[in-house]
Amino acid sequence: MAFPDGIADFRSDTVTRPTAGMRQAMADAEVGDDVYGEDPTVNALEEESAAAVGKAAAVFVPTGTMGNQLSIMAQSRPGEEVLCDEGAHCRNVERGAAAALSGVAFRTVHAPGGWIQPHQIEVALGTAGVFYPRIGLMVWENTHNLSGGRVIPVEGMEAGNSEARRHGLAIHLDGARLFNAAVALGVGADQLAAGVDSVTFCFSKGLGAPIGSVICGSPELIAEIRYLRKRLGGGMRQVGVIAAAARLALRDRERLEEDHLLAARLAAGIADHAPAAVDPASVQTNIVNVVVDHLKRPWPEITARLATARVAVNAPINGVWRLVTHRDVDQADVQRLLDALFR
Ligand SMILES: Cc1ncc(COP(=O)(O)O)c(C=O)c1O
Repeated sequence: MAFPDGIADFRSDTVTRPTAGMRQAMADAEVGDDVYGEDPTVNALEEESAAAVGKAAAVFVPTGTMGNQLSIMAQSRPGEEVLCDEGAHCRNVERGAAAALSGVAFRTVHAPGGWIQPHQIEVALGTAGVFYPRIGLMVWENTHNLSGGRVIPVEGMEAGNSEARRHGLAIHLDGARLFNAAVALGVGADQLAAGVDSVTFCFSKGLGAPIGSVICGSPELIAEIRYLRKRLGGGMRQVGVIAAAARLALRDRERLEEDHLLAARLAAGIADHAPAAVDPASVQTNIVNVVVDHLKRPWPEITARLATARVAVNAPINGVWRLVTHRDVDQADVQRLLDALFR
């Protein structure tokens, strides 16, 4: 359902607002100083998070960006390269953090949907010779944001992981929307995370909490990341007040299926009127990428119509318009968007 101010917001799944239950849990949260490891709500959240992805330990961080960047920092050395697909979030839209904070560059491969193929890893590692920088870490992103929430299946990740291991790489999984991938594939998130050293996921995206992400991995790796988190100023205190909302969000993860159904209906509705604008078969989770030029109306007219209908969207990037479904939009909001576009 749209927000109380009547706006239906399709810009991102980060726009969800805490539910009444979350606000109550935040008010009731038992807290302590988490830098001393004394916040029982954070400790519980970390245990539940690690268990959800089949890892032994976890550390709570404020954002997905910090989760990715701490994972990179802990598993690479300055001057090395990090192997990822060219559309990876950690490379493109984290403000150059990996270069600025960890002194690493990215070696990218063209991998549609983020699905890096074993031969691409082999080729990238094969170039080292006596000139190229060492590659120490590979990063997956599942679901893959820029490609429209596409998923990489377990077998795809397994094949890439074995090749990366053969070359001695550490492996990080940016699972900002990992549970969307798990729900879409009908597998456990632990299966997707099984072969990686570190995995991050966000409570503040489709899961619907107001703040927070987590990094999961072995106790040794998480201890090192906890150390680095303090260095970056990410050591938080009575943070159980936000961990309480995140715990509820994590428990409610099966509901992501509803967002996927809504995205499928949105894509089908657009394709009914403008078949070239979107391929419904490519919509696997909660993100719909639309080619604006095929919508049959100029963009200024589209924005004016959406504004009148009180539908919020982001501007297209390189001609691609990203619409995202989440807990705070429903079928009526999808219809409102479709009417604004095509009536
Ligand atoms: C795939 C992916 N990774 C990481 C992030 C960063 O998360 P945050 O906005 O919490 O820093 C995002 C944010 O949209 C994302 O889509």
